[in-house]
Amino acid sequence: MGFRDVRPNGRERFFEEDEIIVSKTDLQGAITYANDVFIRVSGYSEEELIGAPHSLIRHPEMPRCVFQFLWDTIRARREIFAYVVNLARTGEHYWVLAHVTPTLGPTGEILGYHSNRRVPRREAVDQVRPIYAALCAEEAKHERKADQIAASTQLLLATLKGAGVSYDEFVWGLTNGATAGAAC
Ligand SMILES: Cc1cc2nc3c(=O)[nH]c(=O)nc-3n(C[C@H](O)[C@H](O)[C@H](O)COP(=O)(O)O)c2cc1C
Repeated sequence: MGFRDVRPNGRERFFEEDEIIVSKTDLQGAITYANDVFIRVSGYSEEELIGAPHSLIRHPEMPRCVFQFLWDTIRARREIFAYVVNLARTGEHYWVLAHVTPTLGPTGEILGYHSNRRVPRREAVDQVRPIYAALCAEEAKHERKADQIAASTQLLLATLKGAGVSYDEFVWGLTNGATAGAAC
């Protein structure tokens, strides 16, 4: 793609509380639709986004296990909410609270995927950041992608267990202002 060379520059960019970043993908995660907010915040043109894998805006500080869990969930025809930090073309990063859903056809077959993203609470981002850092550090101990995902998934599950919550409760606790993630 060529864009893979984008390096994070440590600066954060923001979008408005009343805006929604929208994208749709095909079954493999290639972008099929991008709204104006996504185009503006990501810094890519519509032509660059359409057809590109959604990992185009993947930030290296996002743990692999979160995306694994995301894909496992939506492939099982369920929705998922996740805190995600993305990488804009400028090298800036932006945090979102993403809602990702499968789009189903009349017989229940998955036609594609859809994501809406809103501005997350700052306190939630502050709580998620060290948890994601711990998961990435766990992944960095392993060479193979599969080993990285296995190790960080184990840590994520242990973290949730330590806090006595499910993944959904963890996300909603952060979203509603509960102090979660004490285990990390
Ligand atoms: C509808 C939808 C939206 C997605 N949005 C993002 C996103 O905003 N940022 C991101 O890094 N990955 C997003 N993903 C996940 C990517 O497809 C991919 O799994 C992730 O970037 C990790 O890529 P990698 O496995 O190549 O490292 C999305 C996937 C779907 C199905």
